Formats: sequence, C-alpha cells, structure tokens
Amino acid sequence: MITGRTRVLGVIGYPVEHTASPVMHNAAIAKLGLDYVYIACRVAPEGLPAALQAMRALNLCGLNVTVPHKQAVMALLDEVSPEARAIGAVNTVVNREGRLVGHNTDAFGVIESLRRDGGMVELPPRVALLGAGGAARAILYALLARAEIEQIKLLNRSLPRAHALAAAMGGGARVHVGGLDGGRALDLTGVGLLINATSVGMHPVPNASPLPAGSGLEPSALVLDIVYNPLHTRLMQQAEAAGARTLNGLGMLVCQGARAFEIWTGQWPPVDTMLAAALESFALAARTHT
Ligand code: ATR
Repeated sequence: MITGRTRVLGVIGYPVEHTASPVMHNAAIAKLGLDYVYIACRVAPEGLPAALQAMRALNLCGLNVTVPHKQAVMALLDEVSPEARAIGAVNTVVNREGRLVGHNTDAFGVIESLRRDGGMVELPPRVALLGAGGAARAILYALLARAEIEQIKLLNRSLPRAHALAAAMGGGARVHVGGLDGGRALDLTGVGLLINATSVGMHPVPNASPLPAGSGLEPSALVLDIVYNPLHTRLMQQAEAAGARTLNGLGMLVCQGARAFEIWTGQWPPVDTMLAAALESFALAARTHT
C-alpha cells in the first residue's frame, strides 16, 4: 500500500522501458515489508538537470542512473563519492536531507558477484579484462583495489582506448595492455579469471564472442561475462567447452542493485529475491517480445 509516508526510489534512463530494476527493487521492498516504492522514469538528455531538480523538489529518496546519464549527472550533484569520482560515472544517487550524493556500485557489484556466485573470496593473481568502455572502467577500478591481483591483461579492440583507460586508472605496471582483434588467439596462460566487459555477444547479435578461437583458456579459470541478455552467451559456451566455470552478468546486475538498495534504505536486501524477480521479468519480456 502506498501511503503518505512512502519513500520514492527510481531509475532514470533513456530509454528505460526494458530495465529490470523496478521489478528487482520492488520485490526486495515487499520481502522486507519496507514503505518504499521504486519507479522508472524516461528522462531525455536535455531533461537531466530538471530531473535532478525534481529529485530535490519532490524529496525523492534515491535514484539509479543509467545510460546515457552516468557521466553527465556528476556535475548536477552536491557530492560524489571518491569511488564514483575515480570511475568517472555515477549509477546511484541518494538524497541526504536535500544533499544529492552520487555513488558507483558497479565495482562492488562485480566483486560481490564473484564472491557470491563464483565462490571467489580471493581473486587469482592473473586476470584478463576484455573491453575498455564504461563497464570495463568500473571493473578495472575494482580489480586494481585488490592487492592479491598481480597482473591484469587489459585487452580491447581499440588499443589507444585501452592505453587511455589504463593510464586514467593509474594501473601502473600491474596492467598489461593488448589488442583484441577477432582473429588472433590470446595468450591466457596462468589467467585464473577472465571478465568480458565488451558488448560482444549481447542481444541482438548473440552468436558473437569476444574471445578468439584457440585462446587456450585454463580449465581452472572462471569466466564472467557481464552480458545477461542472453543469459548463456557464446563466450560462456566456449569457456565451458574448455572446462572452465562461467557466470553471466545477472549476478553483477543484482549485486550492484543490492548495494544501491543498502545505500538508500540502510538495509541489505534479500539478493535471491531480487535475482528471482529479475529472471522472472526477463522470461516475461522474452514471452511478450518487448
Ligand atoms: P559500455 O559502457 O557498455 O562498456 P561502451 O563504452 O560503448 O559500452 O564500450 C563497449 C566496449 O565493447 C568497448 O570495449 C568496445 O571496444 P572498442 O573500444 O574497440 O570500441 C567493445 N566492443 C563493442 N563492439 C565490439 C566488437 N564488435 N568487437 C570488439 N569489441 C567491441
């Protein structure tokens, strides 16, 4: 029941119709019996400043921020967490008595999913990260914060973009930059964790993989593909054929949402409830072709 005391959460994006966030968060709210509601608002780029003003004026409690607003929103906030500042993007805003504070929960999300879904409490000394876009930025930040990682191979189709990312994140000698051109096999000897942060393999081109054939993945490796549409990607199939364990991006999606939920409400949500709700919404979307 929405009452006069109900606190409002939401997501702003453009487009925003396909987001699983309302379903995930409202399921967690219901499970915990909290007096919150989570909505989705389509906000065009030119409407972003007004949307943040509305957040203040309407005393909204919290917002998730998604494509294309994650960078632009930073200039409209009263405060940005050091983590979000370093990553260069905000995906969560909390209204602290009129002060809008920006956070980035993607770095937390990837580490928490590796722990929760992949059983990786300690990360392996050698990690490969494919991609150098926005998603790779948050993941590289998360990996660099882990002292047990000795070497990160940062591989991207555009080599200058990978070099720029490595330099921007201050990776130093731990980050080894390389190319990712479809044909040439990668040397993944000793790599215990491979993360795909490119969009290759994502709907609507699900049969593509960022990993060139013959790349010699270690059977003991864990492969995390941050893609979650489809849930079982071509890369995951390749990795499984090599004997490796795999995770899709659903866990990371849910864990970044869980951290946002905790920032807003002060309570850690039931992550399994959020995961089940997200899966249900994807199944429904697939059935109705929306
Ligand atoms: P996101 O915010 O989701 O990371 P992005 O910033 O557009 O999106 O980054 C997309 C990533 O996928 C980049 O690493 C991109 O490689 P380039 O920097 O070379 O563009 C990668 N990517 C997209 N399509 C690709 C393709 N067909 N082959 C290889 N890499 C691709």
